[in-house]
Amino acid sequence: MAETWNSADKFNREASQWDENPRRSALALAVAQAIIASTKPAKTMRALEFGCGTGLVTMEIAPLVGTVSAIDTSREMLAVVQEKIRSSRLTNIETRCIDLLSPLQNGAQEEIFDLIYSNMTLHHIADTAKFLNHLSNLLAPGGIIAIADLDKEDGLFHDDPLEKVHHGFDREELAALLKAAGLQVATFETAYLFEKENRAKIKAAYPVFLVTAIKASS
Ligand SMILES: C[S@@+](CC[C@H](N)C(=O)[O-])C[C@H]1O[C@@H](n2cnc3c(N)ncnc32)[C@H](O)[C@@H]1O
Repeated sequence: MAETWNSADKFNREASQWDENPRRSALALAVAQAIIASTKPAKTMRALEFGCGTGLVTMEIAPLVGTVSAIDTSREMLAVVQEKIRSSRLTNIETRCIDLLSPLQNGAQEEIFDLIYSNMTLHHIADTAKFLNHLSNLLAPGGIIAIADLDKEDGLFHDDPLEKVHHGFDREELAALLKAAGLQVATFETAYLFEKENRAKIKAAYPVFLVTAIKASS
């Protein structure tokens, strides 16, 4: 059956075994380290991760910032994050089961963040330009966004041919979309090389980029 763009059912089914794939954990750790090196997280920062999954990246970032809102559309993924929070000493992570494209209201005020980061989620969101605009609106002036995802790929990375995803991103096109959203690209790097047997049963290496961009202080 064809999945919808955010595939909450698929991620709910996969949540309990998500961390058992060592390649995923290695990717998330490499991306977290690249985010830390590029964005210099600080205890004064309000951070948000969109598409946090089981929190592989957030558990690395949270000790370094003030607060983290860990957002995902999959309840089961967030249940794994909550279990990790319980067995850690971290008290600054809140989980929210929402689609980030819906308004983020906390009381009467729309929230803003100093750091927004993500790993391997942008390709699950249909309208990239609209989504980046939305993220830009959630950033405080001077705030920084850090997004890791696949470089443009051959369309064979995902096992299910019916899954609705972008087949990676062209770096120049993504930089132009970030600029159009009012963000200034600061760094673009290859954070990890994800090696796997793809859908055609061929061993392939898929580069994962990390782009950071800053919202001008007004
Ligand atoms: C490929 S997984 C990556 C999970 C995690 N970032 C990691 O590195 O392991 C993509 C995640 O994004 C979530 N997701 C997809 N669309 C979303 C949306 N519109 N808003 C919030 N989360 C979304 C999925 O539920 C899933 O947990």
